[in-house]
Amino acid sequence: MAGQVHVSRHPLVQHKLALLRSKLTEPKKFRELVREIAQLLFYEASLDLALAPLTVETPLATAQGYEVAERVGVVPILRAGLGMSEAIVDILPTVHVWHLGIFRDHETLQPVTYYNKLPKEPDIDLSIVVDPMLATGGSAVAAVNILKAWGSRRIKFLGLIAAPEGVRALTGAHPDVPIHLAAIDSHLNEHGYIVPGLGDAGDRQFGTG
Ligand code: PRP
Ligand code: URA
Repeated sequence: MAGQVHVSRHPLVQHKLALLRSKLTEPKKFRELVREIAQLLFYEASLDLALAPLTVETPLATAQGYEVAERVGVVPILRAGLGMSEAIVDILPTVHVWHLGIFRDHETLQPVTYYNKLPKEPDIDLSIVVDPMLATGGSAVAAVNILKAWGSRRIKFLGLIAAPEGVRALTGAHPDVPIHLAAIDSHLNEHGYIVPGLGDAGDRQFGTG
């Protein structure tokens, strides 16, 4: 895969991913795993965030430290991206969260946008689109199209599992957008589901379906 595609080799990510895939994993545990893997992937994807010096007083003396100097927006694709964005807010509370509602039409597999909570001005340095599944790539490409039309210049995609088809679609449409994943699976089945995948990420988080 291209240089912009990063598949985590972290042992904790791979350990938790197997548990996430298991059909025996109940929604409560599934949500916990989504959170934990999202935080580990965000840790890797945020390595290049710019810092600014920060001086603080410890109980003993003055210490020179740093703070994240970039304005970061996290863009969960509803519904399934919600668990990932909440996990990222927990470790970097200064991020903004902008929800995009996009679902796949079950017949055509084409993305349908139904909700957009982006503010008027793209007052941001980095947007991170989060969605556990990159299947055909239609939803992710649509989300990045929306962000670029809005004026976001630097965008990353953070997902859990991708199909090769989805990676090709996203890198083809947006070669400037780095993709961070826990795994790239074998293929899509005739219904557009990732194989072996984990099933429907929204249904498994929210106990629907
Ligand atoms: C799932 C998933 C992605 C999309 C991926 O959402 O969370 O958004 O499918 O498929 P694609 O790469 O082929 O576009 P879904 O449409 O099932 O919506 P939901 O989260 O509301 O259930
Ligand atoms: N959306 C999902 O939730 N799972 C897939 O395998 C494909 C799309």
